[in-house]
Amino acid sequence: MKQLTLFLLSLTIWSVAYPQKFSGLALTPPMGWNSWNHFACDGLNEKVIMEMADAMVESGMRDAGYQYIVLDDCWQAYRDEQGNIVADPKKFPSGMKALADYIHSRGLKFGLYSCAGRKTCQERPGSHRYEMQDARTYASWGVDYLKYDWCHHVGLDPVEQYTRMRDALYAAGRPVVFSICEWGWSQPWLWAGDVGHLWRTTLDITDCWSCRKYFGVLSGWTRILDRQVGLERYAGPDRWNDPDMLEVGNDGLTVNESRAHFSMWCMLAAPLMAGNDLRKMTPEIRAILTNKEVIAIDQDSLGRQGFKAVDEGDFEIWIKHLSGDDLAVCFLNRSQREISKTIQWAALNILTTYLMRDLWKHADLEEMQPEFSVRVPPRDVVLLRLNKK
Ligand code: GLA
Repeated sequence: MKQLTLFLLSLTIWSVAYPQKFSGLALTPPMGWNSWNHFACDGLNEKVIMEMADAMVESGMRDAGYQYIVLDDCWQAYRDEQGNIVADPKKFPSGMKALADYIHSRGLKFGLYSCAGRKTCQERPGSHRYEMQDARTYASWGVDYLKYDWCHHVGLDPVEQYTRMRDALYAAGRPVVFSICEWGWSQPWLWAGDVGHLWRTTLDITDCWSCRKYFGVLSGWTRILDRQVGLERYAGPDRWNDPDMLEVGNDGLTVNESRAHFSMWCMLAAPLMAGNDLRKMTPEIRAILTNKEVIAIDQDSLGRQGFKAVDEGDFEIWIKHLSGDDLAVCFLNRSQREISKTIQWAALNILTTYLMRDLWKHADLEEMQPEFSVRVPPRDVVLLRLNKK
């Protein structure tokens, strides 16, 4: 008994003296929903968030693997006299603990947003100098996921600030997935693996194929895709590149564009945070977000990010290594016309020893031959899984 007490005591001292991130919380890329891409600051309130949790369950998304309901910027109102962060009492009259309880009761997890700077990007109170106090508050509310932004950071060092919040979360004792949102400015893939579970690699996504808005502050998903090339070596279980939340189902993308976007995020082993209104999904969009065979590419336990193997301008081939020596191969057509190609598997260093399955058609294909002919519709993909025989 005495030995056990000593052992537990030394464990406690060790964890206080050597804080770390909570390991093992994101062995595959986190999946969920986040309020920002669809709602931004407007129209958010506890009713909407509860309805979103209900929709996540009823649409089959929870069963497909989505877990987190994350409330992004604009939930905060002010700090009280003791410095405690206070949720907007008009929008969230029942408080954050009640909201978290509801989300948990639906078999889901609860995420919140804050910022490492002095204020958030929407000018709400940031967590700078309040890290420990905020981490304790989040733990008392039942927060399972923290997205931590980088606005109003003048004079601050990202490694120091994000590490400070990591240590505060750890000390508060409730396991929290820590999502670093520093937009890739300090190459977080080089330092963030020991600090958080995922890190943004770029500025913000918007719902278009390839547009740029506000001088490049917002980009369409193909522009963001281009900036992931070369980052594949930094990703793995518990440490993911985050090319930003999904725009699948939002107004600016057609169904085929949404399908291509979702496929490529799965090829990237990206966190899959839906950003649409889950209450109003069309059957086509729901079928995209809940395609379990495609999600399995993203969630593969090997945890390898896919890479671009062929770049012919409008036509690209991406490959992702999967567990059990399986492969995913994605043919991406970036043009506005159909593309037909015949490829040689040998040119991709792929043997003909696999069973081929089309993951959007949900169909097994004919026996693998040295050559493969593929027709990719405009702004769409053909996504194959090659299963080792
Ligand atoms: C930044 C982030 C976005 C979103 C907004 C909220 O722009 O990159 O994802 O969280 O702030 O204000």
